[in-house]
Amino acid sequence: MRYDVGLAMKLRELTRADHAAAQSTGYFDALLAGRLDPAGYAALAEQLYFVYEALEEAAERMRDDPLAGPFVSDELHRLPSLAADLAHLLGPDWKDRISPNGTTTEYRERLREVAFTWPAGFVAHHYTRYLGDLSGGQIMRRVLRRAYGLGEAGTSFYAFPDLEPRAFKQHYRQLLDEAPWDAVEQNRFLDEVSRAYRLNTAMVDELGRSVLPQRPEAA
Ligand code: HEM
Repeated sequence: MRYDVGLAMKLRELTRADHAAAQSTGYFDALLAGRLDPAGYAALAEQLYFVYEALEEAAERMRDDPLAGPFVSDELHRLPSLAADLAHLLGPDWKDRISPNGTTTEYRERLREVAFTWPAGFVAHHYTRYLGDLSGGQIMRRVLRRAYGLGEAGTSFYAFPDLEPRAFKQHYRQLLDEAPWDAVEQNRFLDEVSRAYRLNTAMVDELGRSVLPQRPEAA
């Protein structure tokens, strides 16, 4: 690991392969190529609802923590926009029609294990989701609108009306660089980000298996 660069830069370098694995899943390939339909996209919003429910509950718990608290921003909160998108995509009874998949349940269990009590563990999961939403999520928003005929309704999860993504990401990276963690804690944090990526990849892979047409098994 390089010690002459800040934590934010180390993080990007060390998780490049994890990100590539999360990005290059069959589900995202199909979603970004416009090969799904709004129901195929709703399946992702549905699983994300359960992830953000746990993550944002953890954020409430961490709000006043001296280490994790500075990362908590109300402008990021996605649960209200996910609820609005799901109501648009699935109808007013959306809440009765959704449930977490197996991998989403594992993801939530990990959030419960680490994000409610361990500040760096919380930041690891917070970073992985929200900086992704502010980065690739902005590409996703344009594709969803163009390829699936969705407007603000249905894609509000990817809209952050109260912040400017680029400036916010800079601010967030500065917070990471200033976090007073020693080398051991930094390594634990980096491992947890990798784990968060793997949990996301597993969740999206499971979505792919349920939403994409399966190739017949070779005899
Ligand atoms: C669940 C899957 C994904 C997760 C967890 C994720 C997470 C992240 C995170 C945490 C970052 C911020 C890196 C940093 O600046 O420190 C990021 C950046 C980015 N992501 Fe993703 N991502 C995912 C999928 C995707 C997909 C499908 C795309 C394709 C549209 C994508 C495109 C990007 C781009 C273009 C950046 C910006 C890279 C840069 O600033 O140089 N991501 N992602």
